[in-house]
Amino acid sequence: VHKGNGVTGLVDTGLETVPEPYIQPLEERLDPTKFLPENSIPIIDVSNWDDPKVVDSICDAASKWGFFQIVNHGVPLEVLENVKNAAHSFFQLPSEERKKYLKENSPSEAVCLGTSFSPQAEKVLEWKDLLRLSWVSEDQASAFWPPVCKEEALEYVKKVELVTKRLLEALLKRLGVKEIDKTTEYKLMASPILSLNYYPCCPSPELTAGVGRHSDVSTITILLQDDTGGLYVRGTTEDSWIHVPPVNGALVINIGDVLQIMSNDKYKSIEHRVIANRSRNRVAIPFFVNPGSDATIGPLPEVLASGETPIYKHVVFSDYFKHFFSKGHDGKKTVEFAK
Ligand code: SIN
Ligand code: FE2
Repeated sequence: VHKGNGVTGLVDTGLETVPEPYIQPLEERLDPTKFLPENSIPIIDVSNWDDPKVVDSICDAASKWGFFQIVNHGVPLEVLENVKNAAHSFFQLPSEERKKYLKENSPSEAVCLGTSFSPQAEKVLEWKDLLRLSWVSEDQASAFWPPVCKEEALEYVKKVELVTKRLLEALLKRLGVKEIDKTTEYKLMASPILSLNYYPCCPSPELTAGVGRHSDVSTITILLQDDTGGLYVRGTTEDSWIHVPPVNGALVINIGDVLQIMSNDKYKSIEHRVIANRSRNRVAIPFFVNPGSDATIGPLPEVLASGETPIYKHVVFSDYFKHFFSKGHDGKKTVEFAK
């Protein structure tokens, strides 16, 4: 269907209707009557990471909502703007240039252009293309990331890694982990991935899913979204969805399955989904903070110290990750793999 050109290639042909492979069954379309009108997820000012009130707000939000936004996090506005612009630049390259980064052509595992989520395994395709940039080292990134977005992505990753550390320190403290040693660090954040997500204008977004219902498999995800909007998070009442409004300069944080498992359900990895926009090409840039691929994930000893029953068994992260990609997006089902 996409012949390596992705949704971007389709839209570039001047499409007026949504092709059949992208049309979601009724039950997977987001019903506008199910939006939660009242409130939204918390916005936390983290200008002082060491303030116990800030730590409390982060941990409370992670327990109650699993999603929150942070402002004054220390990543300069310019760095945020540059990486979003760089994502547009990549997807505006001629298709022959983009295709150099398809899995079958890419010179390295450090970079991979993809479309939808897991096209071989999905019944219906998602309205999204992505450039996956694996973060191993600066040398790897410099050698293999596409020149059109490399510097901007590198600059952003370096800054967002600092934010990652502060967030994990705060979140783990509440779980009784006083200091994050090398082993724990490996389990939490050894293999991050920066994804440049591109949702081209869609003639009928209501028929499609930019991203279908899912929870992230990461430890945490740090998302930079542009001002288009379209990200929805599962609400607290039956079948309701809350919009995550774009806030200039903010980063959206969500707890992933790994931290839900490690915290034995103290923190929640919440379902979310994306709807593309009719008139704007949306860019969103998640930084997936993932464990090392051979790390073993399970409820932390500190969490179980008080005699609580473990809800999850131990699994190797790469097995969990493979399981996630072996099927289409299916809400919260991935976590069952660790039960
Ligand atoms: C995702 O959750 O997979 C993407 C989030 C977004 O594009 O806003
Ligand atoms: Fe996600």
